[in-house]
Amino acid sequence: MAPSGVVFYLLLSITLARIRLCYSSQVHVVYMGSKGSQSSDDVLKQNHQILTAVHGGRTEEAQASHVYSYSNGFRGFAAKLSKEQASQMAEMPGVVSVFPNLKRSLHTTHSWDFIGLGTNEEMEIPGFSTKNQENVIIGFIDTGIWPESPSFSDVGMPEVPSRWKGQCQAGESFTESSCNKKVIGARYYLSGYEAEERSHGDSMNADKAAKFKSPRDSSGHGTHTASIAAGRHVSDMNYNGLGAGGARGGAPMSRISVYKTCWDSGCYDADLLAAFDDAIGDGVDILSVSLGPNYPEAEYFNDAISIGSFHATSHGILVVSSGGNVGSRGSATNLAPWMLTVGASSTDREYTSSIVLGNGKELMGESLSSFKMNKSARIISASEVSGGYFTPYQSSFCLDSSLNRTKARGKILICRHSGSAAEPRLEKSLVVKKAGGLGMVMIDEAENDVAIPFAIPAATVRKEIGNKIFSYVNHTRSGAASTKKKPSALILPAEAVLGSRPAPRVAAFSSKGPNSLTAEVLKPDIAAPGLNILAAWSPAVNNMKSNVLSGTSMSCPHVTGLVALIKAVYPTWTPSAVKSAIMTTASVLDKNGGAITADPKGRPADPFDFGSGFPDASRLLDPGLVYDAQASDYRAFLCSIGYDDNSLRLITGDHHSACGGPSPTTASDLNYPSITVPDLKGRVDITRTVTNVGKPGAVYRAQVSAPTGIDVTVVPDLLAFTSYGQRLNFTVTFRVAYPSRDYVFGSLTWKTDEIRASSPLVVRAAASDAGLL
Ligand SMILES: *[C@@H]1O[C@H](CO)[C@@H](O)[C@H](O)[C@H]1NC(C)=O
Ligand SMILES: *[C@@H]1O[C@H](CO)[C@@H](O)[C@H](O)[C@H]1NC(C)=O
Ligand SMILES: *[C@@H]1O[C@H](CO)[C@@H](O)[C@H](O)[C@H]1NC(C)=O
Ligand SMILES: *[C@@H]1O[C@H](CO)[C@@H](O)[C@H](O)[C@H]1NC(C)=O
Repeated sequence: MAPSGVVFYLLLSITLARIRLCYSSQVHVVYMGSKGSQSSDDVLKQNHQILTAVHGGRTEEAQASHVYSYSNGFRGFAAKLSKEQASQMAEMPGVVSVFPNLKRSLHTTHSWDFIGLGTNEEMEIPGFSTKNQENVIIGFIDTGIWPESPSFSDVGMPEVPSRWKGQCQAGESFTESSCNKKVIGARYYLSGYEAEERSHGDSMNADKAAKFKSPRDSSGHGTHTASIAAGRHVSDMNYNGLGAGGARGGAPMSRISVYKTCWDSGCYDADLLAAFDDAIGDGVDILSVSLGPNYPEAEYFNDAISIGSFHATSHGILVVSSGGNVGSRGSATNLAPWMLTVGASSTDREYTSSIVLGNGKELMGESLSSFKMNKSARIISASEVSGGYFTPYQSSFCLDSSLNRTKARGKILICRHSGSAAEPRLEKSLVVKKAGGLGMVMIDEAENDVAIPFAIPAATVRKEIGNKIFSYVNHTRSGAASTKKKPSALILPAEAVLGSRPAPRVAAFSSKGPNSLTAEVLKPDIAAPGLNILAAWSPAVNNMKSNVLSGTSMSCPHVTGLVALIKAVYPTWTPSAVKSAIMTTASVLDKNGGAITADPKGRPADPFDFGSGFPDASRLLDPGLVYDAQASDYRAFLCSIGYDDNSLRLITGDHHSACGGPSPTTASDLNYPSITVPDLKGRVDITRTVTNVGKPGAVYRAQVSAPTGIDVTVVPDLLAFTSYGQRLNFTVTFRVAYPSRDYVFGSLTWKTDEIRASSPLVVRAAASDAGLL
């Protein structure tokens, strides 16, 4: 009878699951494309009408289900809908997409680890005046802000620009006067979060999780990202003697407006779209979004961040976003071509800690731990001190409760780390401490190079160094019987070291291309510092005023700061012109002039690691020419990836637009500052249009470095401009010469005596061609 009992139980649970799906409502986003000319009152009325229709005419129910209406930057709303109501809604005319209120994560690898630490963050950019920066307004969609931090002082700042329409929303521990002439706007969005966290757990939980129901930052992440991009100079950041110094953001005189959408457990789509909608209405110039979808990313118009960014871009706002911290090939997120997507690199500053072995050998690890060991201690693999029901293998990762106190007490433990962001690093040191351990050496199997503020003397080492330590431990012990020697080590406090290794190098955790939605558009676009970055912090977390964090969350605002510098000098440039200037002037060489590597083992980096390369602040104000994508370019792009006339008209708000021009285009034809052909069959011609933003009579010559096995010709190979703003076309022809199975990389550079405007070329021969020969 047992088997049939099991079957019955299974059937029952499936049925129950179905019933739950039918009757439980979840918040959905109903996206309706570009906004018309209606007032927000009319929009609200219309949204209620639509909701009443799917609620069988029951007005009260319909109004109760409404969560947000979006009407500033685009059209749509968020509401509690059952699965049936959602699919009914998706069929209605005027609706582009309906998708559930998904949760996003901040793109920090260890956002909840913390320490204050003082050293001068290397962000000084010589040659930029702060002139006109005060007219640039940067919006941050993040965890809010700690406005009293000295990084956000408004001393010496002129009045708020009169065009500004934003507000300072009061709430818990935040009043209207919490804003100043530096932080000129602050809002918060909780409805989408509360709806989900309440329906998943008890209401007390959601209330507890939403610390500071106001724009005030309870996590530190938003304060950190805002100060990286736009923090004022702070002269006295120092901690535990780790080198005092000044720190400043990229564009210290620019203005900040915060849109707090991310709470302890994450950020929900309905709230994110409300933030985008308000930011567009308020009049920000740039949006910095250090968060993203979990891979894989939904199609562009089913994804809140792509939708919000599309409409921000059509309002002249460049959206800078983080590419993600998954690290593996094809894992990049924030893939839409209208965003500027940033990968993470190291800087020339390392936070290192020496591990001195009993035989006198000194090895280097990464650490932010300032604890001092007074004398060396016995060092042993954590697998040898396993306790309870844990196997030695499990204990080798120093999992919670996996260590035997008697065996671990007074020792330095060697623990392993899988490299996963889900495995908290700081926590391992707490586990070792709890077991009575004196210190820890953590072997990071993914070689992430992330410096951590451990709770005891500790350091992270690469696998190669981990093996050296193991070999010392094994060797010493095997001789132990005769010599009575025991393996020992001393871990020294962390130090900030400059220029010890070639920099920048792409961080191992930085998510890589190709673009999993549209392989024809290279992502990430660029890489910037995102490894061990010092910036301001929320004192709500352990009373720390500054912190060192790693992640593409940190690289994103570095580029945001650069965008602000360009916008200050060229306020009328379009989002794609600014983006092009940063990309075509980027460098693919490190500070020593060597090829940039992609991880500590020295693999040469390619465009899937860093897009166009690393921004060169000395060149980006003078790009010479730009690849400027216009509304018509994005329309053609949407057609090329399968949008029909109806969706196209709703999304763009252009009721005369239609797909199917005279010549069919592919997504590779989008006027983008990089060129990717993921499926080259025989031969393909790609046309680009460049706009002269340099000298009126500039003459450029094409210089091609062809990808291996691909013939590349550029016609014309000389561009002679006669006026500023003039647009000229050229065509790049790719032919398969001898195919290889994987992607190959090259570059196209337009050169004058002073200017180099480079684009990566990324090509893969189609499978059929690769099979020839
Ligand atoms: C090291 O010595 C100092 C001063 O004697 C003492 O305060 C501290 O607790 C010692 N540290 C450890 C880890 O034993
Ligand atoms: C820990 O190890 C000691 C010594 O080997 C042993 O006596 C003790 O039972 C162990 N404790 C646990 C909880 O496994
Ligand atoms: C050290 O010894 C352990 C077994 O005790 C073994 O698993 C490990 O591979 C050895 N490591 C080295 C580097 O010799
Ligand atoms: C340049 O290319 C664009 C897009 O392909 C096309 O519309 C335009 O007519 C071209 N201009 C010239 C001068 O050929």
